[in-house]
Amino acid sequence: MTQLTDQKTASLSAIAAADSLDALEQERLAALGKKGWVSLALKTLGQMSPEERKDAAPAIQAVRAEVAGAIDAKKAALEAAELEAQLASETIDLTLPGPHTAQGSIHPVSQVMDELAEIFADLGFAVATGPEIEDDWHNFTALNMDESHPARAMHDTFYFPDAAAGSQDGTTGGTRMLLRTHTSPVQIRSMKAQGAPIRIIAPGRVYRSDSDATHTPMFHQVEGLVVDKGIHLGHLKWTLETFFKAFFEREDIVLRLRPSYFPFTEPSVEVDVGYSNEGNRRVVGGHGDDDGHDWMELGGSGMVNARVLEMAGLDPNEYQGFAFGLGIDRIAMLKYGMNDLRAFFDGDPRWLKHYGFSPYDQPTLSAGVGSQGRAAS
Ligand code: PHE
Repeated sequence: MTQLTDQKTASLSAIAAADSLDALEQERLAALGKKGWVSLALKTLGQMSPEERKDAAPAIQAVRAEVAGAIDAKKAALEAAELEAQLASETIDLTLPGPHTAQGSIHPVSQVMDELAEIFADLGFAVATGPEIEDDWHNFTALNMDESHPARAMHDTFYFPDAAAGSQDGTTGGTRMLLRTHTSPVQIRSMKAQGAPIRIIAPGRVYRSDSDATHTPMFHQVEGLVVDKGIHLGHLKWTLETFFKAFFEREDIVLRLRPSYFPFTEPSVEVDVGYSNEGNRRVVGGHGDDDGHDWMELGGSGMVNARVLEMAGLDPNEYQGFAFGLGIDRIAMLKYGMNDLRAFFDGDPRWLKHYGFSPYDQPTLSAGVGSQGRAAS
């Protein structure tokens, strides 16, 4: 019995000292394994007299239970410690900055298109689209420019070769295809598709065979069209003023509406905005013709010509409309201070890095439609 007590004491302290699950397993085998001292002690019971066994059996079982209990407790403690150590070593700090990645930016034209959509959506306009490869009828004829109309010549049109349908000089032909020279054909398509009333803007690419510092063969326009009962020039003026104040984010915008001529509007007005030169930057605001002030033409507009309404299937006695077409690249240059249109389309990443926008600069009316500033350069 004393021997058993000594073995127990030694075993319990070895268990307590075990510093790993492996070491603990060694102690378990030494005590409770087939040849362990507890098992051997249990075997001695067989040779004992019933009297001796009556005392010895519960004593040995008690030792066995005590040792087994100590092993279980130690095992749980070692496993918990091991898990702690693993968790500590595998920690990932999610607050660390991400790896450096190449960053793109939003082109100013895309940014301004988003700004336009945001402002006009607030005024109840939907965004409409039309094909860039357009037919002669939608681009010209339905806009009151029949085949012999001199205004056609002013558009420097890119025609697709189409021997069957007519000549390429614009004098004959029916379904001849071309690259649309303005976004105005979307007026026709929208009126034919949805009838009246109508309130849309149509931003997109247009093409003319022309190139210098302020003209590129491809550029961007936004068309606006409102058709309803009782629409008049005052609605057009209010809409343009409200739009430009929101777009340039200042109240002192001064517009000049100049009498003009477009075959598809009557009367027609050209829209100029007053600006001043501050340093080498053009800044809108104030009115033109003072010292350092001038006007910049932003686009054309007018009341939709009754013939155009008719050609699009509407009754001009019932409906009136106004339309405008603005140069998106121009208003982008004026707002964000670029001075060469060609750089817009050079695809130079350094230019984009300087003038581009972060994808986080989402134009919203609450946060400002563009005053968050350009992407850091
Ligand atoms: N489509 C004309 C242009 O490109 C602009 C315009 C649009 C004028 C709508 C009047 C009405 O020059």
